[in-house]
Amino acid sequence: MENSRIDLPIGVTLDRFIKSKESEYPTAVGAFSQLLRDIALAAKVVNRELNKAGLIDIMGSAGMSNSGGDEQKKLDLLANTRFIRALSKGGEVCGIISEESESFIDLENNGKYIVAIDPIDGSSNIDVNVSVGTIFSIYKRISAINSPLIESDFLQKGRCQIAAGYILYSTSTMLVFSTGKGVNGFTYEQTLGEFVLSNANILCNETGNIYSVNEGISNSIIDVKVKKYIQYCKDKEYTARYIGSLAADIHRNLLLGGIYLYPATKKYPSGKLRLMFESNALAFVIEQAGGKATNGEINILDIQPTSIHQTSPLYIGSKQMVDKIGIE
Ligand code: AHG
Ligand code: MN
Ligand code: MN
Repeated sequence: MENSRIDLPIGVTLDRFIKSKESEYPTAVGAFSQLLRDIALAAKVVNRELNKAGLIDIMGSAGMSNSGGDEQKKLDLLANTRFIRALSKGGEVCGIISEESESFIDLENNGKYIVAIDPIDGSSNIDVNVSVGTIFSIYKRISAINSPLIESDFLQKGRCQIAAGYILYSTSTMLVFSTGKGVNGFTYEQTLGEFVLSNANILCNETGNIYSVNEGISNSIIDVKVKKYIQYCKDKEYTARYIGSLAADIHRNLLLGGIYLYPATKKYPSGKLRLMFESNALAFVIEQAGGKATNGEINILDIQPTSIHQTSPLYIGSKQMVDKIGIE
């Protein structure tokens, strides 16, 4: 990554950052900037709701399941509503897919952008006050405007993302994203109500000594090369770290160097993580930071999705560690 990307001082607000980068996007500049602002606004609203969890009745199950069969928490649905509302209002986004919504949402406007979103990632951690996230991808609409959206507007390869990122609600709240020119992280300054540049031009170390996998699935991993790799990590006495919120696990490994693995298992033969709502966005960010993401065979960003809620194995993080899987 070129150092020329570090051209704005730490402490600059997200708004100013976006404005200063507009010259890098010759078309639809204003609309794209507004879309990023809409995401930041929804993040602030969700952050506010999450901070109240425990004090008001927004924790626990909503008593329903999503299309992946996961139990939906009240906060999953609340965050879903908040993001959809923020994205609908601006008019820049014409269509949304969400982990919490069965089918695509056609906003029936002339917006140029499609958004894929996991409103709350790591929702099993909500009720126990452990870090959760929001993961998002932005694509350009493919079909002609003034016509109804079609599924192929959404089923785009991760490589087609024009921006992607995540929000991490943790010791502090952070927005980390890439528009395809490196990765930058912004920390939410509560008293100002602003995201402020805190981690400019984030780079992922080529290698590391952290491995992140749910050890409880060890015996049901299907791919032998993955089993061997996990044993290799143990032989090397790498440090095991696993939060159970993908965005948080990836964020740590992005900053410190490491690998995250969610392989195919007997319970989840095609992997558990959703390509369109989780893996693509994080793969885009990691690759922009110099890391790598695969499904064990090909780069995550090169997978042609065939359905909105499809899952895939995910191996993501420091490049050399991901490359090591499968090498005896
Ligand atoms: P979500 O809360 O959006 O359903 O995502 C949960 C995901 C991901 O965040 C996490 O890394 C993984 O599921 C954890 O799965 P296990 O509990 O099977 O380890
Ligand atoms: Mn998730
Ligand atoms: Mn989720």
